[in-house]
Amino acid sequence: MTPDGVKDRIGSPPGRVLLTGGAGFIGSSVARALLADGWDVVVLDKLTYAGRRAHLDGLPLELVVGDVCDAPLVERLTRGCAAVIHAAAESHVARSLDDPAPFLRTNIEGTRVVLEAAAAAGVPHAVHLSTDEVFGSAPGALAFDVDHALRPGNFYAASKAAAEMMVHAVAHTRGYRATVVRCTNNYGPRQHDEKAIPLWIAAARRGADLPIHGTGEAIRDWLHVDDFAAGLLAILRRGAPGDVHHFTGGNSLANRQVAERIAQLCGGGRLVHVADRPGQDMRYALQDDATREALGWAPRVPFDQGLAETVAWYRDRDPLARAQ
Ligand SMILES: NC(=O)c1ccc[n+]([C@@H]2O[C@H](COP(=O)([O-])OP(=O)(O)OC[C@H]3O[C@@H](n4cnc5c(N)ncnc54)[C@H](O)[C@@H]3O)[C@@H](O)[C@H]2O)c1
Repeated sequence: MTPDGVKDRIGSPPGRVLLTGGAGFIGSSVARALLADGWDVVVLDKLTYAGRRAHLDGLPLELVVGDVCDAPLVERLTRGCAAVIHAAAESHVARSLDDPAPFLRTNIEGTRVVLEAAAAAGVPHAVHLSTDEVFGSAPGALAFDVDHALRPGNFYAASKAAAEMMVHAVAHTRGYRATVVRCTNNYGPRQHDEKAIPLWIAAARRGADLPIHGTGEAIRDWLHVDDFAAGLLAILRRGAPGDVHHFTGGNSLANRQVAERIAQLCGGGRLVHVADRPGQDMRYALQDDATREALGWAPRVPFDQGLAETVAWYRDRDPLARAQ
């Protein structure tokens, strides 16, 4: 225990962690953070279109290619783990509008399987990654606290809200309390090109149009993925199983403003308004004061710096740019 009575793992060996979805955007940053913290990392990832083996190249971890809905596999992998971080998901809202089925399977059933396996194996700490989208649009200046009712506005968000209900059901029936983490929009390296920031960077670098849904006034908060990964480590160190945590970057911006900054940073591209996404949520907002206080966490990466570094990362990984 620390002097302020907070449980702290510092000094004891971290042990083995099962990280689902570790070949994806957030997972591949979390894998790096866990390794730097001394954890023995096992990644379970199906390598869907969104996951890439290359995201984990050169990292000293075990990658198991498989499905979070495969109960015997997940049960085998959770045995002996000190922690589970469940980041595997179908994550793209636009795809959920075209074909919700994989979202319902992976995000809901996959979460049930992972948490039931963690319960059966007696894993001390399981952390489920949820999203600010489970609340739906935040009216006025409201920022949702952890206990606010969930009112998801699209099929991705609904599947994530249902996944949270699985966390509750596992707690209620198996007596196993997992931690739920809701974060705002992450940005940084290794995000799939279909997501807004990489999409706008790619367009701006070509001097092409940057497509903006509707008016471009929909507001999102932006959190650097390394800050989020640091928050997850803080949970493993100091969090109590069963807590709900919110993480924000404190960078609430209209989509149009983010696209404009990217065009400036890339020295090209023009914003072009396209049809709005059906069921667009106009504003997401979370309160994260309690998490900051409980975990001693705060985001460190200023948005302008993080965005410039992200643009540079996409430029540097482009073989054409390197050859120039
Ligand atoms: N990216 C964000 O801004 C953001 C914001 C809030 C919450 N989240 C949540 O964080 C988590 C990670 O998001 P991300 O942006 O890294 O997503 P991502 O799409 O980049 O990565 C998801 C990973 O999960 C894997 N996967 C998909 N289905 C699987 C299955 N059935 N079995 C095993 N692996 C499977 C994919 O191969 C991929 O590697 C998700 O739960 C997402 O809902 C993300």
